[in-house]
Order: sequence, then C-alpha cells, then structure tokens
Amino acid sequence: MIETQTLPDIRIDTVVESRLPSFDPNHLKFGRQFTDHMFSAEYRDGQWTNLRIMPYGPLKMSPATSALHYGQSIFEGLKAHKAPDGTPLIFRPEENARRLNASAVRMKMPKFPEALFLKGLTKLVQLEKGWIPQGEDYSLYLRPFMFATDEFLGVKPSETYRFLILASPAGSYYTKPVRVKVETHYTRAASGGTGSAKAAGNYAGSLYPAALGQQDGFDQLIWTDGQEHKYIEESGTMNIAFIIDGTLVTPALTDSILPGVTRKSVLKIARQWGLPVEERKISVAELVDAYKSGRLQDAFGLGTAATLIQIESITYNGEEFVLPELPSREISNRLANYLRRLKRGLEEDTFNWLLRI
Ligand code: COI
Repeated sequence: MIETQTLPDIRIDTVVESRLPSFDPNHLKFGRQFTDHMFSAEYRDGQWTNLRIMPYGPLKMSPATSALHYGQSIFEGLKAHKAPDGTPLIFRPEENARRLNASAVRMKMPKFPEALFLKGLTKLVQLEKGWIPQGEDYSLYLRPFMFATDEFLGVKPSETYRFLILASPAGSYYTKPVRVKVETHYTRAASGGTGSAKAAGNYAGSLYPAALGQQDGFDQLIWTDGQEHKYIEESGTMNIAFIIDGTLVTPALTDSILPGVTRKSVLKIARQWGLPVEERKISVAELVDAYKSGRLQDAFGLGTAATLIQIESITYNGEEFVLPELPSREISNRLANYLRRLKRGLEEDTFNWLLRI
C-alpha cells in the first residue's frame, strides 16, 4: 500500500508542446527515445528536496561533478505495459526501489525513500501513459538513477546527489537468441566488490571484454568468478539459468552477482509450477559435462531489459556447444510467454506483482 498522503508534494511542470503526436510507436529500438518528461529530486543537507516532474532535457552540471570523476552513480531498470483496457501496469516497482537503496548503501550514497520512489514513478507513468507502446515486445522502459553532484576534486562521498527517472518507449533489447562465450580472463565483479550493486562502473568495466567478444562474433559473455574463473556468475547484463535434466539451475546469489528482479520472478513462477529449482554454484566443468552427456536442455538470460532471452550456443575454450532448437525449449518458452502475458495483464496477477496506475 502506498501512503501518498504523508509524502511531500511533487511539482509538475509540463512541456509547452508534447512530442507525442510525432512519436512513431512502430519499429522501436531499445533506449533511443525518451518521453516528454522526467522525475527529478535533489539531495542536500541530508534531505531529498525539489521533487518535481519537469520537461526531459539536458542537465546543467559542473565539470567537477564528482560522479564524473569517482563514479558514485547507480541505476535501476523496470518496465510499464498497458493492459487490454488501457490501464498502465508497472512490474514489481517496489523491488527496484529496494534494490536502488541496497546499491546506494554499497556506494555510500543516500537512500531514496521507497514510498517516494513509487510516488514519483506513478506520477511520471500517469503523465506519460500515451507513450506506452502496445507492440508484442514493446514497453515503456523506466530508468531511475542517482549520481553524486558535489563540485569537488577529492575522493570522498559526495554530500549532494541528484535522483532522476527517465521513461523510454522501447523495443526488444535482443531481437534473437544470443551466442555467448565463457570469459576466463576478465572479471565483472570480485568477491567483496560492487557486483551485487547496480553501479554504473560495473557496466563500464564490462565493455572492453564484451567488445573483444563481439569482435569474435559473440553477442555476450558468460562471466565467471573473479578468483578461479571456474564458476558461472552472470551473462552480460543479465542473470543466467540452465535446464539440466529437467531442473532449473541458476547460480546462487553472492556479493558479485546482481539480484535480478526477473531472476527472482522466474524462480518464483517455476517453483509455483512445481518445477525443480536449484540455486547453487555451477562450475563451467559441470556445464560442459551436462552438455556432452545430453543433459543440458536449455540456457537463458534473465533481465529487465532482455526479459528472458534464450542462448543459442555457449563457447568455452574455443569449443562451441550449440543448444537445442528453440521449439523444443519447452520450459523457457513457457516461462517467457507467461511473463510476457502477465506483464500485459493477460494472466491473473496471482503474485500481486503489478502496480496498476
Ligand atoms: C536492465 O536489464 O534493465 C538493465 O539495467 C541492463 C541494461 C543493460 C539495460
């Protein structure tokens, strides 16, 4: 239940002329277009102030803004869809509000009150509901983020911050199943590091190894543990799961793995359906062995942007393991379909995951 009465007011400054009439809701790509407005808040003297919805546009910033130098910057990603009756539905926003604050703690940033996160998000989606695209793989992708704004050149936690939420009508992050390579040299996150926080720097560090993989024709990498490169952690910007002998197996969460909302949701659905689910360590050797003995039936990535994306093949030490044809991937097909329908209000919301606006 959202206690909106006790929360500070959000000022709304709307655009003079909306860009909506010229918006083409067909052929959408991911992350390229933004709606008319964004939510904004500023942190100073220990308080979040100046809460407002304002026209989307450039920010005025000092070149000494500390986030640019020392990387105190965290973000979230979640999606809104439209139900058949036109009601906007946001998928599990309270999970993102909580995770943002877990990231904030790790990066020595202030928390953003969860109720205020939900209020700001709700108001923004209410205002921008005309931008929610209807297409099968389309959504209104919402991007809350926070960064340090002190104008100071010294390594210390900033005393001021900005929190914003952007809304972006978006198409699929991946348009086809992905070819991935097990990364055995570079590391996404080490034990004791920031891997379980949704920190901007984690993504920055992944770009060079990912680009090397792309040069060799891989869409993404499978990250392994930073110590021995022996255990599977994530795939690219997503969590990863396998079906081995009919059991859904996924790496157990550690401080080097992002606790994904899609991962959490899929595990809950699978358990509800009575599928055996194991959250545990998975070594690359186990995976190769499962493949070679015909027990690796499926592999897929799980993330908000990607939703559930099937993996076409996994390459390890130059050997490519091609996974079964998509139509035979009964479990991941069923999970993907159910999630897609649930988010659009086409399944009964038995888990109470949808915030109706
Ligand atoms: C998401 O899945 O929402 C993310 O934040 C990952 C990013 C690559 C878009």
